[in-house]
Amino acid sequence: MSHTLLAADRISVGYGGAPVIPGLSLDISRGEFVVVVGPNGCGKSTLLKTFARVNKPTSGHVQLDGHRLNRMRGRVVARRVSLLPQSAVAPEAITVGELVARGRHPHHTLLRQWSPQDDAAIAAALERTQLTDLVRTPVASLSGGQRQRAWVAMVLAQDTEVILLDEPTTFLDIAHQFELLELMADLNAEGRTIVAVLHDLNQAARFASRLVVMREGEVAGDGAPHDVLTADLVEEVFGIGVEVIADPQAGTPMVVPHVRR
Ligand SMILES: Nc1ncnc2c1ncn2[C@@H]1O[C@H](COP(=O)(O)OP(=O)(O)O)[C@@H](O)[C@H]1O
Ligand SMILES: [Mg+2]
Repeated sequence: MSHTLLAADRISVGYGGAPVIPGLSLDISRGEFVVVVGPNGCGKSTLLKTFARVNKPTSGHVQLDGHRLNRMRGRVVARRVSLLPQSAVAPEAITVGELVARGRHPHHTLLRQWSPQDDAAIAAALERTQLTDLVRTPVASLSGGQRQRAWVAMVLAQDTEVILLDEPTTFLDIAHQFELLELMADLNAEGRTIVAVLHDLNQAARFASRLVVMREGEVAGDGAPHDVLTADLVEEVFGIGVEVIADPQAGTPMVVPHVRR
């Protein structure tokens, strides 16, 4: 059994014009909590969607556990890799329970439709996101924090070994941001492999076992947050002057922008 679970091998990915990702290689190992950071438009979402087989590389390939994604059926990939997209939009009038149940679709086949296993997975996902009491509530009437938890519950119900999250904390207040990140850390401790795009460098440094910094479709930094998140790298990639100090709570690197005024 190989250590590498997801591997991008010299992938080029784009949307018709010049490639957004012009040839990137990145191996994700089992059990990692990888956080991807980088400026707007550098290709983070494009990379995550390629790992989930939503985007297809024009050259190179992605392998899941040694098998090329483009040779696997979508449903088979979705049993092992889930993606919470950056701007997930729920269909009109869908309830929390119905949304979460969608996470079970990849597990169904012609011969195997609904099963008690599905009910158990949905109940566990609702419990874990504290949505059990809201199962019949329309997603449209939830608060921002509850809605994001409903999407997370759908991903949990999908019950995959790899979980990809694209800016899952955007629109959440600080308490809900940490609640969500801690849930991801728990899932990671239980053996799931997590790849998350975050904007907050300090949260990234706290939660990531490995930080991948992207810039213009390429990997500009990759390693333990302590090694990667230097003032030089932040200045080079984000173009602002910063000081990096130790987070007084966690000891992880903390980025403090220079005062301009
Ligand atoms: N569906 C799309 N069609 C055309 N261009 C796109 C599409 N999605 C993203 N892009 C472009 O690809 C580049 C990278 O986008 P994206 O991967 O979303 O970056 P990030 O997530 O890092 O902000 C941007 O220039 C963006 O405009
Ligand atoms: Mg994005």
